Amino acid sequence: MASTSTFQFSILISLFLVSFFWIVEGNLPQSCKQNECPTYTVVEAGNGYEIRKYDSPVWISTPPIQNKSFVGATTNGFIRLFSYARGKNNQNKQIKLTAPVTSEVSFNGGKPSIVVSFFVPLANQNNPALANGLSVKRWKSKFVAVKQFGGFVTDSNVGRYVASLKASLGATKRSFTFGKSFIIAQYDPPFKLTDRVNEVWFLSQ
Ligand SMILES: *[C@@H]1O[C@H](CO)[C@@H](O)[C@H](O)[C@H]1NC(C)=O
Repeated sequence: MASTSTFQFSILISLFLVSFFWIVEGNLPQSCKQNECPTYTVVEAGNGYEIRKYDSPVWISTPPIQNKSFVGATTNGFIRLFSYARGKNNQNKQIKLTAPVTSEVSFNGGKPSIVVSFFVPLANQNNPALANGLSVKRWKSKFVAVKQFGGFVTDSNVGRYVASLKASLGATKRSFTFGKSFIIAQYDPPFKLTDRVNEVWFLSQ
């Protein structure tokens, strides 16, 4: 009897694990199958949002870029990070492209200021190459509220996705910094026209 119930229990556990991994797989952007992405655990899956715990990723970041255009600032930052990854850095080292590229938007006296970042591959995290104006940011393990969306991010649709995540988060007990800043994570290069994956992120307070 005892062994039968142990067996049933282990079946239940493995069904649980399978469905757990399905859920995570379902949300993993396609580009993370080809490129390295920061790893995380989903700690809460709600209606219209997901809360992830990131495992201390390392980023290389531009200085704050002042531009009224989200797309303008992101393109500007991305060009700098792309040339960094292509070897324009103090180690003359090519760095593998990763995903996502993030744009952190914050508001100083109403003016947007945008920091664009590139996830540093694990292999380079101990001793990341540096470059003029760029800085290394090491996150401690961090909670992030996330909403995924498709298509191209534009100056006219970005606010809608931010507002939508903000509205969904009424359902969680955790608190996030959406008053001061938000992050847009883009997983695909500009030439990919279909099945694009983007996310709005709010960081935990
Ligand atoms: C700001 O955005 C505009 C329009 O997209 C672009 O032409 C310009 O180079 C950008 N300037 C900076 C400093 O990012």
